[in-house]
Parts: sequence; structure tokens; C-alpha cells
Amino acid sequence: MKTQVAIIGGGPAGLLLSQLLHTRGIDSVVLERKTKDYVLGRIRAGVLEQGLVNLMEEAGCAERMHAEGFTHDGTLISYGDEIFRVDFSEHTGMPVMIYGQTEVTRDLYEARENSDGKIEFEVQDVVIQGANTDTPHVYYTVGGAARRLDCDFVAGCDGFHGVSRQSIPLDVRREYEKIYPFGWLGILSETPPVNHELIYANSSRGFALCSMRNDNLSRYYIQCSLSDSPSDWTDEAFWEELKRRIPKEQADKLVTGPSIEKSIAPLRSFVTEPMRWGRLFLCGDAAHIVPPTGAKGLNTAASDVHYLFNALRNFYENGSEDGIDTYSEKALKRVWKAERFSWWFSSLLHRYPDQSAFDLKMQVADLEFLRSNKAAQQAMAENYVGLPY
Ligand code: PHB
Repeated sequence: MKTQVAIIGGGPAGLLLSQLLHTRGIDSVVLERKTKDYVLGRIRAGVLEQGLVNLMEEAGCAERMHAEGFTHDGTLISYGDEIFRVDFSEHTGMPVMIYGQTEVTRDLYEARENSDGKIEFEVQDVVIQGANTDTPHVYYTVGGAARRLDCDFVAGCDGFHGVSRQSIPLDVRREYEKIYPFGWLGILSETPPVNHELIYANSSRGFALCSMRNDNLSRYYIQCSLSDSPSDWTDEAFWEELKRRIPKEQADKLVTGPSIEKSIAPLRSFVTEPMRWGRLFLCGDAAHIVPPTGAKGLNTAASDVHYLFNALRNFYENGSEDGIDTYSEKALKRVWKAERFSWWFSSLLHRYPDQSAFDLKMQVADLEFLRSNKAAQQAMAENYVGLPY
């Protein structure tokens, strides 16, 4: 088989790139290790930056998002029984879009299928060869049959555990990592959200987040120990713990119900450099991971897709290699800023096992500065709604 761009990974990054390329008549094949149902079963964050909203529009996939998603003009931040709001629209003129990553992925699959996009599922044994030559190719097996895909470029959108990053030789690759000493226990429940905007809560018992998908679907998280397993937490225990971590006024009006999903995610900051090796480009989690505080995962993958899409467009439409040559540098500049914000916002809100009394005072001072200082709120808001591409 032959294509222009071989895309490894059928998550939102790979699908968005494939669909954007399609709008410009550039051919791609997406190779996905799992089934479509598996990909759509993964629950991820639900806050989209304007940049991603714009890309979904450019891809022709924004109709359902605009109909069913809703915009948020701000967020609440609590510490103990104190609570304050940061207004995004006031400080940046921009809201964020509340729409689940799962729904973004579903819309992208539908668009690819409607335009006869080629997606191979349950692909195994992917090997990327010749990435540093002009004739890259990808070997893989599907249903036991060996295949070869010849292409001009390979986009590695296959996540943290994918083969794409590993295909860049160790002597040109540098990795930076921070592991956080806690996880997030998340539940999804068919209950009305406790508040019409998100609440990020710093409490003496640990972090909590009240989020949502729609008027009758709530997403809540509590910081938990890395040794916990979801089965250690009954729904009742989860709700009780959540109530203890948010201000009383909110806890009193929290509507609880059975969970329809419960899972634990570890928290990690990770970046690999460079994000390009020859004709192989890394996008999204294949190159970088952020802790979920601030919902920058998918949004940062989207900015990579933006840079890569424009680089490839420029190559095919104008014969220019400039975008390709500057892809890694441009993408990484924005990636590191998203890393900084996610790391800072995490450190502002969580309880760390080795935190001293002094560290706790610093956290409260940071929160009170944010609460009272317009410039600090503006900096937070600019990062939250998404730095420019
Ligand atoms: C979510 O809705 O799942 C969510 C929202 C905001 C975050 C993280 C996760 O910062």
C-alpha cells in the first residue's frame, strides 16, 4: 500500500491530522493498535481550547460540538472553605468549550468514515523504517497478515507507549520526566453537576475537581494514593471524600448517584526532544505528557497537529520544507509552556507527601495572590484558555 502520510495511532491527534490533510487533498492512512470501541471507551478530559475548536471547524467536524458542547467563561478555585473565581472572558476575551475528548474522537471517526478515510484497526507489530531517508515505510501485521505501507512522511500519534518515539535513536533523543507521588481517582455519574462551572479544590485532605460533560453527566476527581485501586473505593466512599474536600456550601448541594465509570490515572510530566527525526514527526502523547490539572493533554496534542498540518500543507502545496524543518522547535516552544502551566497548577492544588509547613504556607500564599491579583489571574486565564499557536 502507498500513501502520502502514514499516521500511527487512531486517537484524536491522528484522526484530526488525517481529517485536516483530507480537506487539502492530502492522502493518509491511520494505523490503530486497538478497536474503535476501545478507543471510544477511554474517558479523558473535557475542556477544549479555542485553538482546538478552530481546528475542528477547519476539519469540518464542529457541528455537534457547537450544538451539544457549551462554553465556560471562568472557573472556581477553592482552598478550605474559601472560594474565588477566575474570569477567562474578562481577562482574555475567550471562553473554553466543554465537550468530552471521547466525543471529539467520535466526531472525527465519523468524518473520516464519511470521506472513506483509510483506518486499519487492531494493527500489530508496527515497525517504522527509513524515517531518516526520503522513502520511509511502515511494516505491520493485521489479522495475522504482514503488510507494508510506503509513504512520504510518518506522523507518530501513538501515545506515550507507542513505537514512534522509540523509533528515534537514543543518541538523538533526550527525555525529561517528573513523576508525581499521587494519582487521580475519577468517576463519571449521571447526575447534574454540582456547579455550572468547574471547581478546582485544594483541601487539607488533597485535591478534588468537580467537572462535567453535560446537564446530567458529571465528572469528579479526587487525589488518591498511587497504591489505591478503583475497587478500593465504593461510590459512597468516593462521594463522602469528595464532599470533605470542597467548600461546605457546594458539598451540601452535591447530588450523588451510582458511578458509570471509575478509574485511577497516575500523574506525569514528560517531554521528549526533538519531536522530529528525518521524515518522522511525533504528535501529542507520543512526545509529551502533562498531569491532567488544567486539561492540557488533548489541547497540546492539537497544537502539534496544527504545526504539522501546516508544515505538510506547505510541503505539498508550495514545495517548501520550512515548516517541516521548524516543526520540532515550534511545537516544543508551546509544549514547554503547557508543561509549565500544568506543573504549576498541579503544585498549587495537591497535597504532596513530603510537603513541609513552609511549603503549605507557600501554597496558600500562591492561592491568595491569585485570588487578589488581576495580573496573576490574567496569566492563569491566558494559560487556561490556551496560549496562541
Ligand atoms: C474533565 O472534565 O475530565 C477534566 C476537566 C478539567 C481538568 C481535568 C479533567 O483540568
